[in-house]
Amino acid sequence: MGAGEFLDLTDPATFVRHEPRDYWQEIRSQHPIYWHDSPGDLPGFWVVTRFSDIQTAYRNAKFLSSARGTVLDVLLHGNDSASGKMLAVTDRPRHQQLRNLMLRAFSPKVLGPVVERVEQRTRSLVASVVDVGTFDFAAEVAEHIPMTTICDLLSIPDGDRAELLKWNKLALSADSEEVDDLDSLIARNDIVSYFMDLAKHRRENPGDDVITMIASTQVDGELLSDEEVALNCYSLILGGDESSRMSAIGGVKALAENPGQWAALRAGAASLDDAVEEVLRWVTPAMHFARTALIDLEIAGQKIRAGDIVTLWNTSANDDETVFPDPRTFDLARKSSKHLTFGHGPHFCVGAFLGRAELRALLSSLAGSVRSIELAGNPSRIYSNFLFGYSSLPVNFR
Ligand code: HEM
Repeated sequence: MGAGEFLDLTDPATFVRHEPRDYWQEIRSQHPIYWHDSPGDLPGFWVVTRFSDIQTAYRNAKFLSSARGTVLDVLLHGNDSASGKMLAVTDRPRHQQLRNLMLRAFSPKVLGPVVERVEQRTRSLVASVVDVGTFDFAAEVAEHIPMTTICDLLSIPDGDRAELLKWNKLALSADSEEVDDLDSLIARNDIVSYFMDLAKHRRENPGDDVITMIASTQVDGELLSDEEVALNCYSLILGGDESSRMSAIGGVKALAENPGQWAALRAGAASLDDAVEEVLRWVTPAMHFARTALIDLEIAGQKIRAGDIVTLWNTSANDDETVFPDPRTFDLARKSSKHLTFGHGPHFCVGAFLGRAELRALLSSLAGSVRSIELAGNPSRIYSNFLFGYSSLPVNFR
């Protein structure tokens, strides 16, 4: 593979114009770790593609820092403004303290009723689209599950939810090249200021909800500021909505394209739990996460200098043939729970239980009431070098 054949991973269009999985297959065997130059004055970065190297890098939170940012685009343009305040972009020891606080939002006591509502809502959404002819699974079903779940978790007033979803879509993914960076930035600010107001309100009018809990629990002897409360609520919305939505949409697309697998799941030849893991591996909604090296170190025998940006391509790790035999086959009975879809190590996704529960509710509702799933038009891919997925998926459920 010559230098000219490397794809430009800084360009969201790359992931729409090319089949990334073909690319990663070749790169894993020939350049498992390589340096990627960036356009213009932007810094270059390392690209890590093999499962074991990525897993080791995720574990090395001491020297591979999340604090400057964890998404390539942010790191290329500066530092994450939420650094040290929002869980995902904070290093130890503060990270561990914040994580302990956030994990309370995911205790069985809080999640039990939330998951029950997810199951009810998913069953009735699926029932409403069976035998209706062609419909857009993204708009009619997938859009309504994760966001409502997070809003339930945070007790967001019903009247505010549609606006939050609109901002969230603008903040992270875009259907086309027309949504520019400024729109995304404004949407992110809108979300943070919305939560700052809500945090203030809940401090004055405490309830039995997660925002009140985050706003009223001391961390290292002090309460979080309004901004810290807001940023951590925002991270739940961002982490909890898009990636779960992308896995549901990508999962239904894969089922439509693999009717034999759908029949096998319905017949009980694959368990729901294994099917959930295979869908998560297959879709891998968060294509990469990134770190910054704090010291000179080595990854896969390659010298990395302090200050270098290191990108970890989950999407490649989850197709690594040394871990997942025949990785390009969608096999619901596969034992694929080792996948790196939720990351690994100290920053492992705090919402993994909820993400899995949402997908399980979907597959179980479908298995209970849908005999055939057929594609009924061209799905539209989202435009991003971070998230992989589809913004629309025309299908028929019978
Ligand atoms: C962290 C993926 C669902 C909230 C992560 C990470 C990944 C990930 C890969 C690790 C990031 C890193 O190492 O830098 C996903 C996927 C999901 C999902 C694919 C759905 C299928 C959720 C949900 C929530 C959530 C439902 C919240 C309700 C978070 C948060 C972190 C995180 C707060 C930061 C954890 C930390 O830094 O300690 N997620 N996630 N995620 N996720 Fe998720």
